[in-house]
Amino acid sequence: MRALIAGNWKMHGTSADLGEIADIGASIANDPIDADVALCLPATLISRAAIIAGDRLEIGGETCHAVRSGSYTGETSAEMLADAGARWVILGHSERRRFHGETDAMIANKVKAAARAGLASIVCVGESELQRTEGDPIATCRRQVVQSLPDLAATCPAAIAYEPIWAIGTGNRPSPMQISEMHAALREAVVDHLGDAGAAVRILFGGSIDGDTAAEILAIEGVDGVLVGGSSLKARDFLAIARAAPVLPQERDAA
Ligand code: PGA
Repeated sequence: MRALIAGNWKMHGTSADLGEIADIGASIANDPIDADVALCLPATLISRAAIIAGDRLEIGGETCHAVRSGSYTGETSAEMLADAGARWVILGHSERRRFHGETDAMIANKVKAAARAGLASIVCVGESELQRTEGDPIATCRRQVVQSLPDLAATCPAAIAYEPIWAIGTGNRPSPMQISEMHAALREAVVDHLGDAGAAVRILFGGSIDGDTAAEILAIEGVDGVLVGGSSLKARDFLAIARAAPVLPQERDAA
């Protein structure tokens, strides 16, 4: 499966940072990496970023509202993101679940909205530290997958991101074996839930990925890409991660 390298700027970035986006777009335009590259940004940057991103770098949002338009002050619909030039949207990030009370059922409605607007969604799941040490992290994440995804293949997300909450921004990470086990369990859950469409959903890993660790993570069985927070903010750091993706077959053969 073609890898997805996705960045998540969270609440970082102003017009002063648009140069980073232009640099990433220009650098990957001619890179022989066999991956899709997306950068999910604060809503205020999307339209300008989409203009300067170039052909290979796709821009996304970080959340959306479930309905198309209406009296929801401060919200942004999936259609508005698409209109601004977004192709992707992150849904159900643990920070949205934690600080905005997003439930699995709310996230499932947003996944439907993204599909309605033609956006590819990345749905995040992940266990807390307590759920890992005292609970059953695999059961927790499988449940999140099943409940956060509508059960219609037509509203299938493009990717699920497994992001253990305790690994985000901490420098900690599960072992390659634990990541591989989790990804296998999530693959089974999404295929059970969505049938054939579930087999095409990419399962990303996220949490403290940087240029030094990306190649090792991308090589783990069942990892179809990465979702990157802090290390996506600077072109140099994010490009180091993107370049850890597999190279195009013709380039590999020529080498
Ligand atoms: P991090 O964030 O790479 O800074 O750990 C990942 C995320 O929250 O998506």
